[in-house]
Amino acid sequence: MRNLTEENLTDAVLGRLSDCGNPRIRQVTASLIRHLHAFIRDVEPTPQEWFAGIQFLTDTGKICDDKRQEYILFSDTIGVSMLVDAINNRKPIGATESSVLGPFYVEGAPERSSGADLAPGEGPGVLVSGMVTSTDGTPLPDAVLDIWQTAPNGLYHVQDSAAPEHHLCGKLHAGPDGRYSFRTLKPVSYPIPTDGPVGKFLEELGRHPYRPAHIHFIVSAPGFKPVITQLFTEGDEFIETDAVFGVKNSLVVNYLPDGEEWKMDFDFVLEPQH
Ligand code: BEZ
Ligand code: FE
Repeated sequence: MRNLTEENLTDAVLGRLSDCGNPRIRQVTASLIRHLHAFIRDVEPTPQEWFAGIQFLTDTGKICDDKRQEYILFSDTIGVSMLVDAINNRKPIGATESSVLGPFYVEGAPERSSGADLAPGEGPGVLVSGMVTSTDGTPLPDAVLDIWQTAPNGLYHVQDSAAPEHHLCGKLHAGPDGRYSFRTLKPVSYPIPTDGPVGKFLEELGRHPYRPAHIHFIVSAPGFKPVITQLFTEGDEFIETDAVFGVKNSLVVNYLPDGEEWKMDFDFVLEPQH
């Protein structure tokens, strides 16, 4: 096709997809082209502005390596990660809701029995306890809770060369009655990495980079859909403005005083795998 114009260019590009043999790739690419062309028509960027966008993506790629994934951080900060999460985790009523995995999960945390202390010798601690059940209320004694969180300095053990390996992490096995408990430290709010293009982008938007305090969990049991989630601290100053939009009401918990320490209860509910 020749003589392409502002009016017929989109259809011409879409027309070139007709030989694509993979229907899903064809569908996704067609939608991407339609939306990108609509975006350009809406914004009418100057060549300099378009190049600034290209430069942002270039810088984002350059800072990525096997430890740093700036594209995921970008997706997190514009709510896309939570939208993908929501679409893929439509839970039945009562099942524990999901939230983003985040970049600080490391497989291979030490296996621990229920009752384990993830912060021996450190305090004041929190006794976290509850039960893991099916959506029909049946306790799940084979449940495993993979747990990770920040230390009081706001860093995950993978970010902090001074921290003991797997500090404040554990793969906790529920007890025979489906109950679990562990001792840890109260998590703190912390900024997502700001030393790359996403940090500059947030600054440009006048947005802060903080996540409200939370503990991460992957809760699984044989025959059930695992849930990747987080428990957020009620009253945290960033609870309404999480930099990555991960907070859900059902995941906000209260820490109650317990002598010199704290306690917090939460029951996880898994849906059967089908
Ligand atoms: C986290 O909670 O660990 C996290 C999630 C998304 C981006 C950065 C950090
Ligand atoms: Fe986190």
